[in-house]
Amino acid sequence: MLKLKSLKKSYQQGLENISIFEHLDFHVDVGQRVAIMGKSGSGKSTLLSLISGIIKPDSGDIILNSVCYKELKESELNDFRATNIGFIFQNFHLVSYLNALENVMLPAKVCGIEKPKEKAIELLESVGLSHRLDHLPSQLSGGEKQRVAIARALIHNPKIILADEPSGNLDDETGNTVMNILFELIKKNNTTLILVTHSKDVAARCEKTYELAHGNLT
Ligand SMILES: Nc1ncnc2c1ncn2[C@@H]1O[C@H](COP(=O)(O)OP(=O)(O)O)[C@@H](O)[C@H]1O
Ligand SMILES: [Mg+2]
Repeated sequence: MLKLKSLKKSYQQGLENISIFEHLDFHVDVGQRVAIMGKSGSGKSTLLSLISGIIKPDSGDIILNSVCYKELKESELNDFRATNIGFIFQNFHLVSYLNALENVMLPAKVCGIEKPKEKAIELLESVGLSHRLDHLPSQLSGGEKQRVAIARALIHNPKIILADEPSGNLDDETGNTVMNILFELIKKNNTTLILVTHSKDVAARCEKTYELAHGNLT
């Protein structure tokens, strides 16, 4: 499903070149749920950004669903990402001037999904927010915002969800509820999940947990 082959990635910080990955190999099977843990600054978000194609490796290959990113033009990669990947972020990243329903419909519009409104309403129902359709993000609690973000991440039936510390800004109880919802929905759809988390409890819900340190996943 996902293969990373000998990935190399470094950042230029002023005069300094900071190496994040030298020869990273990694693979995830279809429907697998994988947790990634590791200290702050170890490169977890960089890894997700590489997998999403938002940033490019210095060398090496990223292959998702047999498609090698290197072989796509920028516009093709953007379309590929929009169609195949769903994102969930620690800070929710909802569009502030769109209500819950409109936020969830956004990716569906980009992908040209049929009946986006019906699908968005259905998903918001399944995350327990049918009473919040016309609320703006500022009118929602943190847990509610993340439930909207989960619905948004799933509306286009992505093959894979990339989640970067999705419960990091929520209290334990709310985080737990939100994770229950996420895991229930991805199980139902057999969606592959790569989940960055600092919580051992959250990681324990996944089939595999990797530790990222010194550019290696173990
Ligand atoms: N765009 C960037 N330019 C320069 N350095 C960066 C950039 N993004 C991240 N870094 C550096 O790369 C390292 C890994 O960052 P990141 O992937 O965000 O780690 P994590 O998510 O594990 O906390 C950090 O030292 C960070 O400062
Ligand atoms: Mg990070």
